[in-house]
Amino acid sequence: MDILIHPINQTVRAIPGKTLLETLLDNTVPISHSCLSGRCGTCRCKVVDGKVTGPSAAEGRLAQHGQYVLACQSYVETDCVIEIPEVDEIVTHPTKTLKAEVVAFDSLAHDVRRLRLKPKKPLSYSPGQFANLTFWAEDGTRSYSMAGVMEDESLEFHIRIVPDGRVTSLLDNAIKVGDSIKLNGPLGASYLRRNNADPMLCVATGTGLAPILSILRGALETQMPNPIHLIYGARTERDLYGVEALQQLQKQYAHFQYTITLDHVPEQGNYFHGLVTQAIGEYFSDLTGWRIYLAGAPAMVEAASLACTKRGANIDHIYADAFYPSG
Ligand code: FES
Repeated sequence: MDILIHPINQTVRAIPGKTLLETLLDNTVPISHSCLSGRCGTCRCKVVDGKVTGPSAAEGRLAQHGQYVLACQSYVETDCVIEIPEVDEIVTHPTKTLKAEVVAFDSLAHDVRRLRLKPKKPLSYSPGQFANLTFWAEDGTRSYSMAGVMEDESLEFHIRIVPDGRVTSLLDNAIKVGDSIKLNGPLGASYLRRNNADPMLCVATGTGLAPILSILRGALETQMPNPIHLIYGARTERDLYGVEALQQLQKQYAHFQYTITLDHVPEQGNYFHGLVTQAIGEYFSDLTGWRIYLAGAPAMVEAASLACTKRGANIDHIYADAFYPSG
């Protein structure tokens, strides 16, 4: 069975008994991958024609745009045509399980904590990716994005405390500096695409600011010239955090600007009143050629993705990992 690969127009022969990813890698086809176990989403491919069996890799916003599969879990059943993402944007950070030491745990907002972890071994990742943190038993595992690497080489995570959450409601009393936490990562396909000069629109709500901060720092601190606009949404001023970091970035980089939206307070000075999707409508009439990074609750990601495609954004240039709230 032949596999025609877009956009590189290379044809390879399916290797019996091997996954699509193994077949592609054995033929030196460049394709992103990390976990090899169906969890990280980086090996996602689009099936343009033919039959490929395996778990679907298309959450709601993508499902209507074709069949997507995880190559590491999929097998080719007939001749087929597949499309692999951006050949020049390959990431292959191996997913590792590491012990990490708590070096700081403090408050960013009334319900958001900052956790800094120093892994026992270095962890390479792309800005925007996340890790699973196991605080105690396996059912104490939750997914959090890296907000960046600090000067002491610790990784920063932002954790929303859910009052009746089985894990997060206990953290304030359970976590202390010096504790050891199991970290599994990096995971996720919503990472910064570096090899382009396209304008970037980032949209974050809640602790979705963590991966977006990582993407902003990754782009700005490495002198990417892309104009960047962030829309950061919360309910009220009390729910915001990280604004000083954004002000600092705006002061340092003239091609970065941000808008804060609050949907539970009347119009006032520095803030846009409304949802992030309303702000997208207000500020952008044409998003053709933009790269869009979305991070927040699944409903926001769905709505913002739709708002962006309606304004001309290419669905393949909208990056988001679905995070379902878990406490
Ligand atoms: Fe396939 Fe992670 S490498 S889902």
